[in-house]
Amino acid sequence: MLAAVGLVVGDGRPQMGSGLAELLSDGSLDTRRQAMLSTLRQVATATEIVAAHGAEGWAAQDDATLLAQGRSSALGGQMLAMYAIPSLEGLSERFAAGGDFLDVGVGVAEMAAAFCEAMPNARVVGIDVLPRALDLAQQTIAARGLGDRLEVRLLAVQELADVAQFDLAWMPAPFLPAEVFGDGLSRVHDALRPGGWLIVGAGRFDGDALAVAVTRWKTLRSGGTPLAPEEARASLDGAGFVEMRELPTPPGAPALYAARKAQPAPGV
Ligand SMILES: C[S@@+](CC[C@H](N)C(=O)[O-])C[C@H]1O[C@@H](n2cnc3c(N)ncnc32)[C@H](O)[C@@H]1O
Repeated sequence: MLAAVGLVVGDGRPQMGSGLAELLSDGSLDTRRQAMLSTLRQVATATEIVAAHGAEGWAAQDDATLLAQGRSSALGGQMLAMYAIPSLEGLSERFAAGGDFLDVGVGVAEMAAAFCEAMPNARVVGIDVLPRALDLAQQTIAARGLGDRLEVRLLAVQELADVAQFDLAWMPAPFLPAEVFGDGLSRVHDALRPGGWLIVGAGRFDGDALAVAVTRWKTLRSGGTPLAPEEARASLDGAGFVEMRELPTPPGAPALYAARKAQPAPGV
């Protein structure tokens, strides 16, 4: 299991994975460090080395794991701003003039804060079902001085009722149960302005069989959906999205699927 999540390598005499070796020699690799901490803590919770937080799914994780997972996602917020926005038609213009981003599953708001810092005119609304995560999110917002642009709400995505309020939305399939993910897609479609974009993050389910099995296991333990590319396409299509495409990501990063809310044809 440790080999499948990249913490050790080798069959006979396992050794530290290269990322773990880097972690010990270079403190600047914070994203990787935090991702490994989160993975390690999730495995430790699953195997009862660390006590579960008296709940099922992602809510079983303790605050240290929520913080590590959040910090590991901060780079994702920068990447959305630096690479995804320029590659999706119409978004650079909208975010230059302001722009509204919806972060579904805002957690401790590290990704949302990184997005705000990379997009100084953007406003962000983050929603989550876990009050403990939102308490930590409020601390992130206060510490980074983002109270005027970053708002968090205790709200499930399947109950989101905003209409035409956002230019870009993010949904992390690995943390949203399948039925929630399906209902949430329709709610997010309604919440986007015409021509706005949704980006769905998903685990990768190709390649080494053990790694795929462990990713699936981790996803299901987090209460999430192991979303394959063809399932992403079908569910986005079913919720009314158009222009679906997969965005390029570096090796080891999650898959990103982008899709758009249609705009009325000119003159209509
Ligand atoms: C691991 S977090 C994402 C980390 C986040 N980017 C950060 O900076 O902390 C995914 C979040 O999705 C939330 N979530 C699960 N089900 C949800 C739902 N139905 N609606 C909204 N959020 C949900 C979980 O509580 C969890 O905090």
